[in-house]
Order: sequence, then structure tokens, then C-alpha cells
Amino acid sequence: MNRKGFLALTGAALLQFVSPLASAATGPTLKPTKLGQTVIWRNKKYTAIKSGKKLVWNKGVAIPKPKPTTPPVVHGTFDIDLAASEEVPEGMTQVFFPKDPNAQNKSFFVTRNNETLISFDSICTHEGCQVWIGIPLLLCACHLSAFDRVTGAPVSGPAVRPLKTYPVREELGRIILTNTF
Ligand code: FES
Repeated sequence: MNRKGFLALTGAALLQFVSPLASAATGPTLKPTKLGQTVIWRNKKYTAIKSGKKLVWNKGVAIPKPKPTTPPVVHGTFDIDLAASEEVPEGMTQVFFPKDPNAQNKSFFVTRNNETLISFDSICTHEGCQVWIGIPLLLCACHLSAFDRVTGAPVSGPAVRPLKTYPVREELGRIILTNTF
């Protein structure tokens, strides 16, 4: 850029800051010098066009804002370390709220029955409320559905589908659940 061009640019930039008239302008305050010249101003791209014998800026085209990028969801099968084995003794049911991101903010029931572990989702199959441990059943407070602690099957209430089950196993004294999504 030559000295003249630089001064014109600087002057135009300064005008935008100090002149209230400039801030109210509807197009670039810089004068076009060449047909087809482009300039970006207030998120619009202006092109120099001819109007009679004069060069003027066209109406400008809005520059699209970049779309926010969302991180890709990774699907797969993930092991979640829920707890130590002794936290679910024979005949008991416990509910776990793992912080592992692969748990997707879900909570899980684990029942030990006849030395076998069984795991269920703790979301009610009626309308999605949280199910809690009751005695002797798993209970949903929203509409009072009740589920069997060993099979996850609905025993009473509006829910007709069993709680979702998850593969669960023990490894080196830990209870490991497999979540797939
Ligand atoms: S949501 Fe659980 S009984 Fe309705």
C-alpha cells in the first residue's frame, strides 16, 4: 500500500471512532479506488461498483457467522467401575451414581441374588422418573410403579415394561458395568 492509501485508510478508521456521523454511516467510509475492490466493514463485504462515472460501494453482503461446532458423540461399549464388590452383599440392592462420563449421567441399580449380580437402569419405564430402592421393591414416586429388585419386572403401577438391564461382572474385587450407547 502506498502512503496515500495508508493515510486514507487510517483517516477512515479514525473517523469511525470519533465521528457520530461516521458511526451512523450505512456503508464503508473509505472511498473505493478501483472497480471490484472489496472491503469488509461491520460484518459485511462491500464491492466497488460503478454508479455513472463514480465508484461507489454496493449494498454489501453479510458475512455468515461461523456455526458453533459440537464435539462428536462417540458411540461404543464402555466399562464403568461402579464400586467395590463388598458394597453389594448377598440379597442386597444398591444404587450407584458414577461420575464416569461414559455413564452419561445415568444411575444404576445392582442387586446380588444367589451370588449373581444383576444391574438395572434406575429410570422408570413409565415416564422416565427416578426409581428408588424400597423394601422389598424398587419404587417410582411419580405414579407409584413398583419393580422387582431381582428381575426388574414391573410388579404394579402404570409401568408395563421392565427396567433396562446392563451387563455387570466382578473383576479383582470391583463391580464393573458395561454401558452401550
Ligand atoms: S414415571 Fe414412574 S410411575 Fe410414572
